[in-house]
Amino acid sequence: KMDVFVSGLMKKMTLDEKIGQLNLVTIGAPTTGSVVNKGVEDKIKKGAIGGVFGIWGVDHTKEVQEAAVKNSRLHIPLIFGLDVIHGHRTIFPIPLGMSATWDLDLIKQSAHIAAKEATAEGLSWVFSPMVDIARDARWGRISEGAGEDPWYGGQVAKAMVQGYQGASLKNADAVMACVKHFALYGGAEAGREYNTVDMSRIKMYQDYLPPYKAAVDAGAGSFMSSFNTVDGVPATGNQWLLTDLLRKQWGFKGFVVSDYTAVNEMEAHGLGDLQMVSALALKAGLDMDMVGEGFLTTLKKSLIEKKITQFEIDQACRRVLEAKYKLGLFDNPYKSMDAAREKTDVMSEANLSAAREITKRSFVLLKNDNQTLPLKKTGSIALVGPLANNQRDMLGTWILAGEWQKSVSVMQGIKNVVGDGVTINYAKGSNITEDAEFIKRLNFGPGMVTVDPKPADELLKEAIDAANKSDVIVAVVGESQSMSGESSSRSDIDIPEPQKNMLKALSKLGKPMVVVLFNGRPLTLTWENEHASAILDVWAPGTEAGNAIADVLFGQYNPSGKITATFPRSVGQIPIYYNHKNTGRPYSSGPTKFKSNYLDISNDPLYPFGYGLSYTTFGYSDVKLSKTTLKGNEVLTATVTVTNTGKYAGEEVVQLYVGDPVASISRSVKELKNFKKINLQPGEAKEVSFSITPEQLKFYNSQLKYDWEPGKFVIEVGTNSSDTHSASVWWNK
Ligand code: IFM
Repeated sequence: KMDVFVSGLMKKMTLDEKIGQLNLVTIGAPTTGSVVNKGVEDKIKKGAIGGVFGIWGVDHTKEVQEAAVKNSRLHIPLIFGLDVIHGHRTIFPIPLGMSATWDLDLIKQSAHIAAKEATAEGLSWVFSPMVDIARDARWGRISEGAGEDPWYGGQVAKAMVQGYQGASLKNADAVMACVKHFALYGGAEAGREYNTVDMSRIKMYQDYLPPYKAAVDAGAGSFMSSFNTVDGVPATGNQWLLTDLLRKQWGFKGFVVSDYTAVNEMEAHGLGDLQMVSALALKAGLDMDMVGEGFLTTLKKSLIEKKITQFEIDQACRRVLEAKYKLGLFDNPYKSMDAAREKTDVMSEANLSAAREITKRSFVLLKNDNQTLPLKKTGSIALVGPLANNQRDMLGTWILAGEWQKSVSVMQGIKNVVGDGVTINYAKGSNITEDAEFIKRLNFGPGMVTVDPKPADELLKEAIDAANKSDVIVAVVGESQSMSGESSSRSDIDIPEPQKNMLKALSKLGKPMVVVLFNGRPLTLTWENEHASAILDVWAPGTEAGNAIADVLFGQYNPSGKITATFPRSVGQIPIYYNHKNTGRPYSSGPTKFKSNYLDISNDPLYPFGYGLSYTTFGYSDVKLSKTTLKGNEVLTATVTVTNTGKYAGEEVVQLYVGDPVASISRSVKELKNFKKINLQPGEAKEVSFSITPEQLKFYNSQLKYDWEPGKFVIEVGTNSSDTHSASVWWNK
């Protein structure tokens, strides 16, 4: 039916109208590049635009849709997209924080809520999920993904796609997902934004491509090409990537849009002028050109000059029209423009309460000496730091429709949870940063980071006075909203200096000091780990920030999050990730000469992948295996008993890793294969079992064949990637 409809429509279309469908423009929204499209209304009426992004709201989107549906010759509806990344109006934690929940149902639920809100405000397409694997915390966009693990990244990708798209794209509350950034964008050299990516095919297939593939398998409707090169060819014009791999090998049937002016940027990459790179991109398999209008302005000329074919234009046009068809836009172009839903479905009580539940599950307790946390709901606390009484920085990166004015500050959240029971002695204590040049770069939007008119020593003195009057210090510090995300690479990933100076001064007072850490990336926390009594990592938590933080600080919820990206001790250790190779001279328990290590620092991270504490403690038994020798497709069961050995009920993420110590290529020391999140009452014990099949032993060999090889395997089960119990098996073919 879709084929017949689209073919029928295409028969009526002129060449210009077909090329128009390949043109995606932005109107008026904050941009991440230099071009903002001009003359949009006229172009829509002429049929020279296929989609619009950067606007939302029923009134606005309806007005623009009407221009296409009522005034263009063939009445073809526009597709409306937006960067809905971690919520639309109700903002959830940044994706790196969401991934720390290790709760795929909640991740899916958050995407579904975002879809419901986005479709209540005129949208049918979201530029999410971002599934780029990242092993370098200097890269600001590590905040937008699910961390470093390819398998877990794939699970999160699938949950997000399902949450957005629902059972059918025709549903009123479903949006089409756009999986980005294809591909390997997270592998940018030195964590430098928009930089070169160069890696072996084995590394691509084994470590970086699995989440994109998982998103294809989950039925994602569209993909976005990345800014970087892959094997020297920009992804946006890379035929191997966009056609051979994505479509031929993986069977992707949707459409591919470029990133913002990525077609034009192929000129700077050195691939030719705009006409050449536009032709190259179309031929490679790119269907829609975001913002740069290279397709719009050059494809006709290229066709006349026989540099591209009519078939190539038709194919791209067909894919864009098919997406609109799948979304039901030809049946009802105003499907997501229902003024009644805009009132009921956006920032509803239900959405906010789901956000609070999800948000507290994303927090990771990095340290908790002497059970400093949870805090008592009596006595006094010194609430200090530039993020303590701050709404602006609660939401994190990419919050186009999110309103920071509606977010709950930490101060407000504490008041909501403890009422008058606790005396709060507040002081700002320091600025986020005082580096004027840095602030200029952070402030690409109006007034994002401000400097307090009070001198730094006065601010500090106020914090010390507040601390002196209080039983415990709660210092809310870290990165502001614009310090991570796109174009926010940092070479120094410490807590900024003025805040650190405040922590140093406070730590000398001999009072318990809890650090509530805001961060869009792993930070280097060596000093804080030594001197703070407790560290609660809350990422950028979203609209319900303060409520969720107070829930955890005061023990209404026992933290259960675990990090999905390794925290280094120093920037010099980067890239650092748990599934590294053993090397020929492996590091063991400390730096030595002539081993694969540094002379001045251990190879061990500060906090390993999968790490996170609880207010209670969990004991693990040894791993019991159902067999120690297996053959062919037999299934192995690995079982541990996990016991809650502390005083609080709590949740634990039990993790399964497998090592393959002898193979035809050097393999990672271990790879995450599964996990289970369990709930235990104090004193309760549960058996947790994992089934392991040969499918999970497969890897890409030097011929890029995905298969497993017989031999020894090490099965590890534990509380994080560095703290496991293990047992070995022999698996024969
Ligand atoms: O979706 C984004 C992408 O992640 C980075 N460049 C801009 C796009 C559209 O806003």
